[in-house]
Amino acid sequence: MKNTIVVGAQWGDEGKGKLVDVLAEQSDLVVRFNGGGNAGHTVMHNGETYKFHYMPSGMLHNKTCILGTGVVINPKDLLDEIESFTSSGHSPKLKISARAHIIFPHHQLIDAKEGGKIGTTGRGIGPTYSQKASRINLRVLDIIADDAEARIKTALKDVKDMLVLEGIYSEDDYKVYCNSVAVEYAGFGEKFKPYVTDTEDLVRIASNSAQAVLFEGAQGTLLDLNYGTYPFVTSSSTLAAAAFVGGGAIPGVPIRILGITKAYTTRVGEGPFPTELEGEAATNLREAGHEYGATTGRPRRVGHLDLYALRYAIRISGIQELAMTKIDTLALVSGIKVCTAYKINGKEIDYFPADAPTLAQVEPVYTDVPAITELSKEEWLALRNASKDQLPTSIQEYIKFIEDFVEIPITILSHGPERNETIVF
Ligand code: GDP
Ligand code: IMO
Ligand code: MG
Repeated sequence: MKNTIVVGAQWGDEGKGKLVDVLAEQSDLVVRFNGGGNAGHTVMHNGETYKFHYMPSGMLHNKTCILGTGVVINPKDLLDEIESFTSSGHSPKLKISARAHIIFPHHQLIDAKEGGKIGTTGRGIGPTYSQKASRINLRVLDIIADDAEARIKTALKDVKDMLVLEGIYSEDDYKVYCNSVAVEYAGFGEKFKPYVTDTEDLVRIASNSAQAVLFEGAQGTLLDLNYGTYPFVTSSSTLAAAAFVGGGAIPGVPIRILGITKAYTTRVGEGPFPTELEGEAATNLREAGHEYGATTGRPRRVGHLDLYALRYAIRISGIQELAMTKIDTLALVSGIKVCTAYKINGKEIDYFPADAPTLAQVEPVYTDVPAITELSKEEWLALRNASKDQLPTSIQEYIKFIEDFVEIPITILSHGPERNETIVF
């Protein structure tokens, strides 16, 4: 299958960036289709670490990379990212959708004021998508227009009452903000011009030719606005279906849907997390896996692999195969369990609760799993071309248990952050 969608199958940070970097080698276009600077995708190659918030993780292969219509963009942050990537000797082949929406400083201020109860990343994501849905936000095409300053001032007038009433700005400060942001963002627009194009057309042409298109999701299925653990979710759709809406994937063109899962579970921010670990066990796993957010640096919440939630994510997103990351980390901790069912009032349930307080109260049913064999880097690398039955027995059994439960195969196993620390079965 030449076209692939990569999505997170948990609550984000599953290792999508690493896998997109691995798969980008065989791709011609790499397309981000949702989210914005809330994403933090880490790619390690030859000892260098790259953290992409906007730019698709195919950048290191010098592939054409697209920010699709479904993405929301803080132009300053994206230009900074381009600048830092360029100054490290790379030349990004970046294309930006004219239809993608713009994150303004006032979106970040609203997020800072209101995002606390969700534990958002504070990047202005929710307010930008909500003004997009209210049809009052500006897009990339507006900030690159000849009359960009006037467009920005007009749009900001429309949200003035709301911002002043909510105490985000005083009347006087708002006037200053409008004038300065209009000039600043029109300036960003000038810098954007060389990158902006009809990205949907590029994707359509590639999809209908021999070219391979790789779609890179941000966040994870359980953070999806419609099907995630609402309201503790992000404000875009994170499912594979979002690649069609926000990235220009074409219904009917065959596509492979690859979900990424860690060998355990993590979550950043607030919200229910049935298999969460506490105390020393949590600290051990967090430290073993360096589980600190790539965007905000917050310590990630950590827990056992939740197969019940993973199976829900697979079903809801249409995931056909899994890449499992961080098996090397799991080998460093003891007391490994996987959750295979949820109970409410002592009775097993057969649905994934839509109601966050209910999900917060479920009692996970666990199965103990034998300790994962620890291998050195060299031992892992010697297994580069191994089939599953050549892996250590504990790892074979872990994979088989997961595959039997979720009813799709694990086709990629990642055992370290570097590109070459990957086994494709
Ligand atoms: P993303 O948001 O899904 O792209 O994931 P992040 O980059 O936010 O977080 C995943 C972290 O795990 C990054 O620091 C990666 O470098 C790292 N990582 C990915 N795969 C592996 C793996 O198999 N083993 C280890 N030890 N680290 C990994
Ligand atoms: P990647 O692409 C992990 C979480 C935030 C918060 C909730 C809403 O790196 O996997 P937002 O700022 O989107 O309004 O925050 O979603 N969140 C993520 N958690 N990885 C991410 O992205 C995330 N993007 C958002 O922590 O709980
Ligand atoms: Mg991340």
